[in-house]
Amino acid sequence: MRAQVGIVGAGPAGLTLAHLLHREGIESVVLEDRGREHVEQRLRAGVLEQAIADLLVDAGAGERLRREGIVHHGIELQFDSERHRIPLSDLTGGRAIVVYGQTEIVKDLIRLRVDADLPLLFDVSDVSVHDLESERPSIRFSHDGGEQILECDVVAGCDGYHGVCRPSIPAGVLSEFSREYPFGWLGILAAVPPSNDELVYSHHERGFALLSLRSPELSRLYVQCRPDEDLAEWPDARIWEELQLRLGLEGWTLAEGPILEKGVTGMRSYVAEPMRFGRLFLAGDAAHIVPPTGAKGLNLALHDVRLLAEALTSWYRSDSSELLDGYSDACLRRVWRAEHFSWWMTSLLHRFDSADDFDLKLQLSQLRYVTSSIAAATSLAENYVGIERV
Ligand code: FAD
Ligand code: DHB
Repeated sequence: MRAQVGIVGAGPAGLTLAHLLHREGIESVVLEDRGREHVEQRLRAGVLEQAIADLLVDAGAGERLRREGIVHHGIELQFDSERHRIPLSDLTGGRAIVVYGQTEIVKDLIRLRVDADLPLLFDVSDVSVHDLESERPSIRFSHDGGEQILECDVVAGCDGYHGVCRPSIPAGVLSEFSREYPFGWLGILAAVPPSNDELVYSHHERGFALLSLRSPELSRLYVQCRPDEDLAEWPDARIWEELQLRLGLEGWTLAEGPILEKGVTGMRSYVAEPMRFGRLFLAGDAAHIVPPTGAKGLNLALHDVRLLAEALTSWYRSDSSELLDGYSDACLRRVWRAEHFSWWMTSLLHRFDSADDFDLKLQLSQLRYVTSSIAAATSLAENYVGIERV
């Protein structure tokens, strides 16, 4: 097999890259080690920066996003039993966020690719990448019982944090930066209309909680938990009880409904630099992870592949490697901005077991500041809706 670009991973990064390249007439093959159904059902992020929603719409992949995506112009921060609105659009010259599930983006992109009869292989195994420092890198994998080799000009490592591409880079090449957090999120999807018109991020003595949504009929809610929390200890009634305590306000109740899914997500910050080795380019979670507070993970992945698609297009069209050579630095500027913002939102809103009263007072002071100072609220807002120029 041969393709101009071999893409490992059919998550949001790999599928969007394949789509953007196709629109520029560049052929790619996408290799995914899970099945289509698994990839389409994997419940993850749901908040898109306006620029990322626009990217998908402008690339012809946003037809359903435009119809079903829910535009939000603000978020609420809750602490000390009060809610405070951050008017995102008023503070950012009219920019907004769009609530549209990662599952839906992935379904839309897979459908476009399958309908166009373009190569996307699910259930591949034993994927390995080779000759990355040569002009003919290759990807070996098994599919339908046979071993195959995909020869390409460039390999795009879009295979997430646990993928094979980053670990294939020889020791000593990458610098790695990371932080573990002593908690996780227990997330649920519930068949009940969201109880608030906007997202609520709640700082509470029992731990952080978040009210979000996926559609007018589906709520998405999270509570801070232990990183290794055992779901067996969380029957539905306990989850609702905890959410009621952490999100509850006088005169307002959280509507409950059947829980359709639940899961625990660990929290980590991680960056590998540079995002390139020879002809291998890393994008999305394969190169960096943020804790979910602030909803940056999916957005960062799509910012990366937009730059990668532009750089590859320029390389093929004009034979100039300038953009490809600048790819890693250009991505990392935004990555580090998002790393700081996600770490800051996480530190502001969660309960740390190690925290003493001094830490708590600092958190509350900062929360009061971002909800009362226009300068501080604007800083939060512009990071949340996505910084235009980093
Ligand atoms: P991924 O979505 O991880 O896609 C990588 C793909 O590569 C996967 O399909 C994987 O199966 C495939 N793959 C892996 N190894 C191989 C291999 N060897 N060969 C072939 N294919 C391979 N972000 C938010 O903003 N908000 C959230 O609420 C949120 N929740 C999350 C919950 C969880 C459990 C996780 C893991 C992440 C969450 N994120 C969230 C982060 C966000 O979902 C990711 O940043 C986003 O999925 C990144 O997209 P990606 O395409 O880079 O990686
Ligand atoms: C969601 C996830 C986030 O991490 C966040 O900050 C906001 C919303 C969500 O899954 O809806």
